[in-house]
Amino acid sequence: MEQQRSSIHGQWSGRLAFILAATGSAVGLGNIWKFPYITGENGGGAFVLVYLLCIALVGLPIMMAEVMLGRRGRQSPINTMMSLAKEEGAHRFWKALGWMGVLAGFLILSYYSVIAGWALSYVSLSLEGAFVSASAEDIGVLFSNLIADPQRLILWHSLFMLMTMVVVARGVRGGLEVAVRYLMPGLGLLLLVMLGYAISSGYFMQGLAFLFDADFSKINSTSILVAMGHAFFTLSLGMGAIMVYGSYLPKGISIAKTSVLVALADTLVALLAGLVIFPLVFANGLEPGAGPGLIFQTLPIAFGQMSGGLFFGSLFFVLLVFAAWSSAISLIEPAVAYLVENRSMKRLTAALICGVATWLVGLATVFSFNIWSDVTLFDKTIFDLLDFVTSNIMLPLGGLMIAIFAVWVMKKESSRQELGLGSVGFSLWYWVTRFVTPVAVLIVFLTSIGLF
Ligand code: PHE
Repeated sequence: MEQQRSSIHGQWSGRLAFILAATGSAVGLGNIWKFPYITGENGGGAFVLVYLLCIALVGLPIMMAEVMLGRRGRQSPINTMMSLAKEEGAHRFWKALGWMGVLAGFLILSYYSVIAGWALSYVSLSLEGAFVSASAEDIGVLFSNLIADPQRLILWHSLFMLMTMVVVARGVRGGLEVAVRYLMPGLGLLLLVMLGYAISSGYFMQGLAFLFDADFSKINSTSILVAMGHAFFTLSLGMGAIMVYGSYLPKGISIAKTSVLVALADTLVALLAGLVIFPLVFANGLEPGAGPGLIFQTLPIAFGQMSGGLFFGSLFFVLLVFAAWSSAISLIEPAVAYLVENRSMKRLTAALICGVATWLVGLATVFSFNIWSDVTLFDKTIFDLLDFVTSNIMLPLGGLMIAIFAVWVMKKESSRQELGLGSVGFSLWYWVTRFVTPVAVLIVFLTSIGLF
């Protein structure tokens, strides 16, 4: 039978391994760097509420659909979509979903690696003691000096890409599973330590109010699009990362339960990060809407003041790098898996080709913070544009296609079999994915281009 197939790339050792890998993919810069800064830019509470709604009504159903397609297809997303379309008697055009995902993965990783490079450079700054007793201004200068220097940025970006390629070249099980098993809980623990510090800052209530007091006058159709785009980004949905991880998932493991766990863990980390960052923002008189530098301009102030800050600060950025690392490999895995399948390449060669290409595109992001900072299109720098197009257009579009394929194209029996849910659970997933999810995505799309 078709379903007995297993992937040529190997399989996860079990349920826990998949949960860890998928959580490793989901939890990353999106939670700790991006969530606080876009929440700050979009006014807080109401934005967070829309984001949480999108996670529940759009993200979770699509995550289940995406894992399901992967496990059924057992190949890279491009080939998975091709063979599923054939199996279900649908048009070959569906493989375009896989191609769009590969492109989105490249583009996202190209800037993701540059930001992960900032985190790497902060490990070294922290170890040098650069944060010790530094004022908010000192830290601000430290950050602006970093992003103004293309050479330093390229150095760290290159190092991060190299790290990513090494793990990808080693394959699904080699190294990664082990790393994620210990590092993710470590990151969670350290965030709790930081939460303690944020509570003691005296500004915790302001932070809490900013995150959870929903004032809808502060958001507009663009913020809603950004909230939805972020739900896709943070759960790694819509580009095949979760699909390809699903294709390494052994049979018999509940897709629904594991997806719920991953989405919960991801949301928890983001909210925790917000609860740490915003009290510090207010305690130090900083702007919540400071942009992509937000965590890099706030956390070091805290580390510089607290006892053991040198240790905690360095450890924090090390763990942030690991969180980014385990996400980065999933961004490039769909492309690598495809090259191995269709061009019979060794994983090493495939990883090298993808890595070099991504590194090159990443230079555009590096320069967008300095020598090309005035190059803008639609009022956005290259970095902002890359982020906007991938998170807010390509991922939701990919997710929409995944939902449509899973419940409108695929036979109901196929998805029922694959998901392994009880009848109530299955109906709930089926109807939400059939109607609520696609309609929500479409409305947000149409509203943001002013058509609705
Ligand atoms: N989810 C990751 C994060 O939040 C980013 C990511 C997006 C990873 C898309 C894979 C695919 O950092």
